Amino acid sequence: MKWQVVDSYEEMSSVAAEILLSAIRKTPDLVLGLPTGKTPEGMYARVVAECRRGSHCFSDVKTFNLDEYVGLSPWHPSSYSSYMKQHLFGHIDVREENINLPDGTAAWAFERHPGITHAEALELECMRYEDAIARAGSLQLTFLGLGRNGHIAFNEPGTPFDTRTRVVTLSESTKRANARYFPGGVTPDKAITMGLGTISESAAIILLASGESKREAVSRLRSGEVSPDFPASILNRHHDVRLIVDRAAAGD
Ligand code: PGA
Repeated sequence: MKWQVVDSYEEMSSVAAEILLSAIRKTPDLVLGLPTGKTPEGMYARVVAECRRGSHCFSDVKTFNLDEYVGLSPWHPSSYSSYMKQHLFGHIDVREENINLPDGTAAWAFERHPGITHAEALELECMRYEDAIARAGSLQLTFLGLGRNGHIAFNEPGTPFDTRTRVVTLSESTKRANARYFPGGVTPDKAITMGLGTISESAAIILLASGESKREAVSRLRSGEVSPDFPASILNRHHDVRLIVDRAAAGD
């Protein structure tokens, strides 16, 4: 694991944006894994600004988001689909058919298989998503945020390392941390997330962490511990991981 401690959130965002853009310059048909949350917002803003300057940027790139809330349609303002439109996809030349997120309603499955249960429809959606990643040739470069409890995507503590895309129940701490995206509403209890096995098959992984609230998780990751109690620790086993952490999160 390569560690890079930078001075600020702004610097972390610039370094991450440059990694992403140079990977696209090198491999125009890159298959990207993308996160949501507060952490990558600065990276996305910089990528948008750069792409606006050039003509081709994401035109051949395929993207796969890490997760989506169960029960939210892509048009729900608090869905991760809406987040991605707001922060990235709405401003760049990515092709609609190359954008992939889990569908939290699994609407297509109900249409195709009338009478199936909600759980069965979601199961089919998880299989469809795994299959789409496999058909794209698997992830080449994946960006991750870090949960305060060490989760990556929505893989909460206790998640086995070999998990694939599936429905998960969110921990109370994750729901509290994400409540800001549901003003006046109730944060969903469940999500569809790529599994730790799915994520760790990405050829390269960049993990971003910023701010004091991530300090404990960052220090646990630094300790070298490898345990499903701390999902991000799976990254200690990956051969191409780069961590970009600001001073506040690193505590140095
Ligand atoms: P954040 O979330 O970027 O909003 O802090 C990260 C995560 O929970 O994975």
